[in-house]
Parts: sequence; C-alpha cells; structure tokens
Amino acid sequence: MGIIKKFRIKSFKNKNSLIEFENISLSYGNRLILDNINFKINESEIFGMLGPNGVGKSTIFNLITGLIAPQTGKIKINGEVINDYPIYLRTKKYKIGYVPQYGGFFEDLSLLDNLKAIAEIVIDNKNLMKNKIDYMITKFELENVKDIKAKYLSGGQKKKLVIALALLGDPKVLLLDECFAALDILTIKMIQEIIVNLQQENQITICICDHQARDLLACVDVAMILSNCKIIAQGSPSNLINDTNAQRAYFGNSFKIS
Ligand SMILES: Nc1ncnc2c1ncn2[C@@H]1O[C@H](COP(=O)(O)OP(=O)(O)O)[C@@H](O)[C@H]1O
Ligand SMILES: [Mg+2]
Repeated sequence: MGIIKKFRIKSFKNKNSLIEFENISLSYGNRLILDNINFKINESEIFGMLGPNGVGKSTIFNLITGLIAPQTGKIKINGEVINDYPIYLRTKKYKIGYVPQYGGFFEDLSLLDNLKAIAEIVIDNKNLMKNKIDYMITKFELENVKDIKAKYLSGGQKKKLVIALALLGDPKVLLLDECFAALDILTIKMIQEIIVNLQQENQITICICDHQARDLLACVDVAMILSNCKIIAQGSPSNLINDTNAQRAYFGNSFKIS
C-alpha cells in the first residue's frame, strides 16, 4: 500500500468531535441495516468507513445529510442533536459538502457550465463566483476539458468535477462516497492527494468510504470497519490491519501493507 499521507494525526484527544453517532439503529422494513452503532468524527480529521457492498456505508452518509432518519439514537453535529433538522438546514448551518458515488453533475452541461450553475446557487458575489470557478479549474487541472459536456468526461475528470462542485460552497465537512471506485491507479492517487491537501490547506473534516481497504487506508487518519450491521473495529490504519476481528471479518489473512 503506497502511503499518501506524509503524516497522520496521532491523537485527537484535544480535538472537538464534529459528527457523532450515538446508539444509531436503522432498518429498512424489517431488515436491520445498522444495529446500535457509535462513532465520532473529529474536526479536521480524515475519517474512513470500510465494509463490504451493502453493509450500510451510503446509508450512514444519508443519515448525516438528513435524507433518511434513524429509528433510534442521536446524530450530533458540533454537539447539537440534529435528528430533526431538515437537509437544507444541516447543509447550510454546518457547511456540509457531499460527493455521491454516482452522478452529482448535469450530464448535458459543459464542465464550466456545471460549475457556473452551482456557483450561482452557493456564491452571492459575481466576482467571487468567477474567481472561485477559475480557481477550481486550475486546481483540478481541468482547463482543457472545461467546454466538454460533462457526460463525455473520463471517470477521473467527472470525479474531479463533482468534488469541485462540492467545494464551491467552502464546506467545512466533505463526505465522499466510494470516491475511488472504478478509477485507474493514477487517478486514484490524484484523488488521494486532493483529499490530503484539502485537509492540510483548508482544515476540512473529511469522511470517505470504500468497499476496498487499500486505497482508503492510504489516505485516512482513522477508520472504522462495518460488518453485519455493527462496527467491528475502529482505529488508525496500522491498528486496523493488525486487529484480529477486522482480519477475520474483513481483511482476510493475506492483506498486507507493502
Ligand atoms: N431505500 C432503501 N430501501 C430498502 N433497502 C435499502 C434502501 N437503501 C439501501 N437499502 C439496503 O440497505 C443496505 C445498505 O445499503 P448501502 O448503505 O447503500 O450499502 P453500501 O453503501 O455499504 O454498499 C443494502 O442492503 C441495501 O440494499
Ligand atoms: Mg454505497
């Protein structure tokens, strides 16, 4: 596993917890998906969620953004219980940016027009709007594809576009759902570097999930592993890899950091 992070935040003891799940349970119909789970995401941390397909990772993002509500338990942001807050209020008050696994852009608009469309909504000042768009295009090296319809962009360019769209509103929290899925190795490395730079330059709190461990563990400070409705292990990447529960239920015997 190529380590992208030059350093990891070793201790979050003095950090504030930004997002907290307390005894959260969720079922769809009579199918239990999350069984009394507890975790905290600290401010300015890159937090990873790992677990097989269908375990409930996207569900956790939906609970954070407010798309769905838990049957029991409290969701807190900045110490406030937000269970009853509607989506727009959560997004606005806590500045949450969300990058879905699929889509998240207007297919038939050019890359530039996608940025303009979202900037119109989230930025008031016209000059600032233009500066921000130019900044995103330069930052993500999208200059030579800015006039191409978004549906014709490569997988990596689409992913960069959706991350740029989420960043236009200067989020304090960024949620990335399976952001490495179906990308080539170089693009994955580029997205990993973008994530780590965002934390270092903008002190954004980032939560990413993936069903595969390798790419995620290379760029997070801490992670949790979900299996069968429960969190079976939490900790730093090296602690997780050596955790016997995690090895048994998720990594298997042959997983190594090389
Ligand atoms: N709206 C829904 N109605 C019923 N079941 C759902 C719904 N959304 C997700 N599920 C089920 O909940 C489980 C968790 O889904 P999801 O959070 O998307 O998993 P992951 O993101 O970890 O792959 C899956 O088994 C999925 O089929
Ligand atoms: Mg998912």
